Order: sequence, then structure tokens, then C-alpha cells
Amino acid sequence: NISRLVLPGNHCMPVIGLGTAAFQIPHEVAKTAIMEAIKAGYRHFDTASLYGTEQALGEAIEEALKHGLVESRAELFITSKLWITDAYPDRVLPALQKSVRLLKLEYLDLYLIHMPFSSRLKSDREFPSKEDIEPLDVKGVWAAMEECKKLGLTKSIGVSNFPVKALENLLSVATIIPSLNQVEMNPTYQQKELREYCKQKGILITAYSPLGAPGTFWGNNRVLDNEILIDIAKSQGKSVAQVSLRWLFEQGVGFIAKSFNKERMKQNLEIFDWSLTENDLEKISQIKQMRLNREQPLYEYIA
Ligand code: A2P
Repeated sequence: NISRLVLPGNHCMPVIGLGTAAFQIPHEVAKTAIMEAIKAGYRHFDTASLYGTEQALGEAIEEALKHGLVESRAELFITSKLWITDAYPDRVLPALQKSVRLLKLEYLDLYLIHMPFSSRLKSDREFPSKEDIEPLDVKGVWAAMEECKKLGLTKSIGVSNFPVKALENLLSVATIIPSLNQVEMNPTYQQKELREYCKQKGILITAYSPLGAPGTFWGNNRVLDNEILIDIAKSQGKSVAQVSLRWLFEQGVGFIAKSFNKERMKQNLEIFDWSLTENDLEKISQIKQMRLNREQPLYEYIA
């Protein structure tokens, strides 16, 4: 009973997706967790060539279909992303073909340009330093993304980590409008301006790090330890995580919450039968805003 958002072309996306940015997590652990998520009711999964979890997700999907946990591939919504080392016009199609093969699928639901820049770094599993990145050939790369959609290898195309400026540049060359922008968003980084811009342009938003990604090298406990959110959670009889996720849902954005723990996976689905009060929303609007990792060059746009 997960609510859905509708992408252009009447393409439905479950609001809640399971994030799989599980660096260093053994293949079998990731696969088992994804199977658990399918059992719990997740139908939307987010991966990227960078994460190294495409294969585990593909195997989990294959098994879920074999055992009848899902009736057909069409029930699932699968997103993957084009890493910066493949963000060159001639590398887009082969990169997508590789992702589709690792996922054992015939098509993706959504393929995203992972970052608004490119890099000639050799390794595709490395994060770049500032010196290693170069401006994205947005016209050429987006044309290749459009071609991938026309070929039927992905139903929808979009971007990730694109600030307004990068979206403006993309829209000035796009024939097909990006369906979605996946960005860092939670009550401590609400991105109001970006949300308004995307709404106006008909671009949906999916939030990553909706809980502040505690325990990762880019995240911290700022969301889960936030006093305002803790107070709201107490008064609502919910967890801070649920308050954060419910807030995102009420803003009309989807989200990718990562949990490989059965109980928390279930908890994160339970956000549809209650709502935040006007007073809660007012308090959340007053939370001090800060990006998770301001040192990270990864999130910077260069034109
Ligand atoms: P775990 O996998 O052990 O559940 P984000 O979604 O912002 O990237 O955050 C993911 C992190 O938040 C993971 O470390 C995950 O740990 C943890 N997490 C996920 N759901 C919850 C929850 N409901 N309560 C507390 N922590 C959670």
C-alpha cells in the first residue's frame, strides 16, 4: 500500500524506495536484505554503478520472481545511475547496457546522470577529488540518455545532485525533460528553492539520505539527533525516522531510505496512516539548515 508518484508518460513510482548505497557490504548480505525488503513490501529499489550492488539487486529480483514474491517485473521500479567516468556521450549506452545486464533485466525504470560533472579517472569505484572532475558535456550526454529511452532500455531518464543552475543548463538543451532529480533532502536540508524550481518545471524529486545517512562517510546523526524532530516524534508516538520520512512525503517528494535491518525497513514503510500537524510543520520549517558534508567536492557543480 505504498503511495505512488507519477512520472511523465504515466509511469508510476512508489514513493518509498530502498536505497542500496551499501559500500563494503558483502554481496550476500546485500542480497538477503533486499529479499527481506521485497517480503516487507518494498517495490522500488535504488542502485548505481558506483555502489557495486547492481548484481546483488539483480539476483534478489530474479529469486523473488522465481519464488513468486512478486508476480512480474512490471511490479518493480528499478533505478540505476550513470557514474561520472561514463558521463561522456559515447559511454552512456554501454554503461546502461552493463547495468541492465548486472541487474538481469531487460529495462530500467529510471536511469539518472549521477553527478552534474564528469571525470576521466580510471577507476569507476573511486570518489573524485576536485582536480579530477571536469564540466559535463550536458548536451551530448543528455542526447545519449534520450537515445537510451527511445531504445526502450529505460522507461524514464533523469538526473541526480543537480542544483538549479545545472538544471537550467540541461533544460536549455533537452528535448525530453528530465523526469526526476534525486538529491540530498531531509528536514535539516530542505532545499526549498530547488523544490520550488523543480515543481515549476514538472521535475519530480527523490530524496536521498532522508535520515541523514548516519554511519556513512558522507552522513551523520544530525537528523536522528535533532531536538525538534525528537519532540515531534514523542508527541506523535512515532520515531524520528518516521517523522523525517513523513515530512518528505508531505512535500510531495519520494525518498530512498536505506535500511538493511528488517524491523527498521518495516518501520520506514509506516508513514501513510498519520500526518504531521500544522504546528509540527511550522517547527520543522525552523530547523537550522545544513548540507550533510560540506567538504565533499562530489556535490559541487562546475559549469
Ligand atoms: P540500518 O541499515 O542498520 O537500519 P539514509 O536512509 O539517510 O541513507 O540513512 C541510512 C542509515 O539510517 C542506515 O545506517 C540505517 O541503518 C539507518 N536507519 C534506517 N532506518 C532507520 C530507522 N527507522 N531508525 C533509525 N535508523 C535507521
